[in-house]
Amino acid sequence: MARITLTGVTRRFGAAVAVDGLSLDIAQGELVSLVGGSGCGKTTTLRMIAGFERPDTGEVAFDGRAVNDVPPRKRGVGIVFQSYALFPTMTVAENVAFGLRVARWPEAKIRERVGEMVALTNLGGMEQRYANQLSGGQQQRVALARALARRPTILLLDEPLSALDAKIRLRLRGEIRKIQQDLGITTVYVTHDQEEALSIADRIAVMRDGRIEQVGRPEEIYAAPRTDFVADFIGISNLLPARVVSAAAGELEWEGTRLRARLDGRRDGEVVTLSVRPEKLAMVPDGPPAAGLNRLEGIVEVITFLGPIVRLEVAVHGRPVWVDLPHAQSHAVARKKPILLAFAPEDGVVIPSRADGPRTEAASPSRRTP
Ligand SMILES: Nc1ncnc2c1ncn2[C@@H]1O[C@H](COP(=O)(O)OP(=O)(O)OP(=O)(O)O)[C@@H](O)[C@H]1O
Ligand SMILES: [Mg+2]
Repeated sequence: MARITLTGVTRRFGAAVAVDGLSLDIAQGELVSLVGGSGCGKTTTLRMIAGFERPDTGEVAFDGRAVNDVPPRKRGVGIVFQSYALFPTMTVAENVAFGLRVARWPEAKIRERVGEMVALTNLGGMEQRYANQLSGGQQQRVALARALARRPTILLLDEPLSALDAKIRLRLRGEIRKIQQDLGITTVYVTHDQEEALSIADRIAVMRDGRIEQVGRPEEIYAAPRTDFVADFIGISNLLPARVVSAAAGELEWEGTRLRARLDGRRDGEVVTLSVRPEKLAMVPDGPPAAGLNRLEGIVEVITFLGPIVRLEVAVHGRPVWVDLPHAQSHAVARKKPILLAFAPEDGVVIPSRADGPRTEAASPSRRTP
């Protein structure tokens, strides 16, 4: 059993604050994914949970008991590092057995546990191969088997799949999730792949500059991002900088166009960001507008075939807006031709401007290519 509680944890390196007053409560058996851009403090947070790094202030607790002074080897934590860090001159079996040898387990028990771990991670038949004779996916499994060998109550994974190709990633993340759930092991999974986080986590914590910007279930984070950063980082969003015309009437203005949205709690004249996911925009025929829907007129600039959907970049008032259309509708679309778009008021998420002022990047849709 282990519940992890981080309370106001801060870690500085010289003048730089790597983790800044971070608080997070992770339930027994839960898988929480830490996501965020490079350098936002994910690995440092993991290292503080493992005990390789000591918080300058704040507390790390397992099951309500502070572990700040407990050395790593006594924390019952298994860790898979950002680089697998296997021992290249050891075989698969020796790598998996490493922690058990250090803990001076009897040889018979070691052999038995290594057998179990090899079976659990699908490495049967490879026990005598050297680590440098394995594929990336196999090495990743050895690292996982090694981390699990001592039956840790907590599993920490630092971008475990980042070095692998798309197909293997998909399969292994399913395997990791299954093992984690079967063993009921409290897990922190660091990734900067938002899709990986959405698919594997019970909850996602989106980090930025050493802090958690939002934490919640994947559906919550996706459907109701609280900041423009979260809306942009998780999935793809059109982020339209808009001004509240009438909060009571639910009316906004973006680039001279009146739009409707839920504006509870907003003030007239307030500047907000209206976030609209590409799949919430539909192509509509010319003619009188359907009652209640927001309408945008634009010119199709880019058409990208993505298999089941087609993603359009449409210039609306000269600004790029992304639209996902079902493949069947895409034959009606042509480059440089006008297009009429519509979305329901409830499909726009209104994000208040940050207290520290609006960020200029919020003015354009996500810069990531589809
Ligand atoms: N030992 C260290 N000494 C000095 N600065 C450090 C040290 N470890 C981390 N940092 C700094 O702390 C910040 C957070 O680093 P961290 O490794 O936690 O980021 P990350 O979110 O894991 O990034 P990435 O996605 O690139 O792995 C970075 O600015 C990094 O340069
Ligand atoms: Mg890292």
